[in-house]
Amino acid sequence: MSAKDELEQIARQVAQCQLCELHYSRKRAVPGEGPVDAEIMFIGEGPGFHENEQGRPFVGAAGKFLDELLAKINLRRDQVFITNVVKCRPPSNRDPKPEEVEICTKTYLERQIQTINPKVIITLGRYSMGLFLSNAKISEVHGQSFWVKGRLIVPMYHPAAGLHQLSLKPEIERDFLRLPELLEKSRHAVQNNAPPSFDSDQPAKQLSLF
Ligand code: URA
Repeated sequence: MSAKDELEQIARQVAQCQLCELHYSRKRAVPGEGPVDAEIMFIGEGPGFHENEQGRPFVGAAGKFLDELLAKINLRRDQVFITNVVKCRPPSNRDPKPEEVEICTKTYLERQIQTINPKVIITLGRYSMGLFLSNAKISEVHGQSFWVKGRLIVPMYHPAAGLHQLSLKPEIERDFLRLPELLEKSRHAVQNNAPPSFDSDQPAKQLSLF
């Protein structure tokens, strides 16, 4: 099966998924979207109200800010892959439960990552950061890069955090401005077949789902 077919199959399976209780309250599942050969993948937490209505990720206020951040580095959303830890909206925007995260990431997110094979994964917020970096504090590690199992992971604040806490906005913008440089670093490492297990200049605080 081609990578594109695989990605489409995952999206179809997500749309019909009944593996956890979130399917009872969802209106539309949100598999994620973007090109199959995207070099950059963003992973948010889970669909909110607007995403649940439209079946698309980051289409509300946080999504608008994400679009603005992408524009600052001359990227459009159709050039990156955008998805979430859980693919269905938790009722009343509650936090996803550990078993929901476990099932959804094992069944869908891991396969999306393998299929797309992005050069850089940007985690947006604590939940997606926690998949890769255990015990990390987002206030300490945001904007830094970590090699996790041969993949460059960059934890960032969730864009909604910048909307709720205006003092974070410039920090989020600064982190985004570093993204082209980090992508280049990853391309270079992959080209030389040398993605290290850990970033040499980062603490080996570790992780890991994948
Ligand atoms: N917040 C998220 O984490 N994901 C979305 O898709 C929208 C808002």
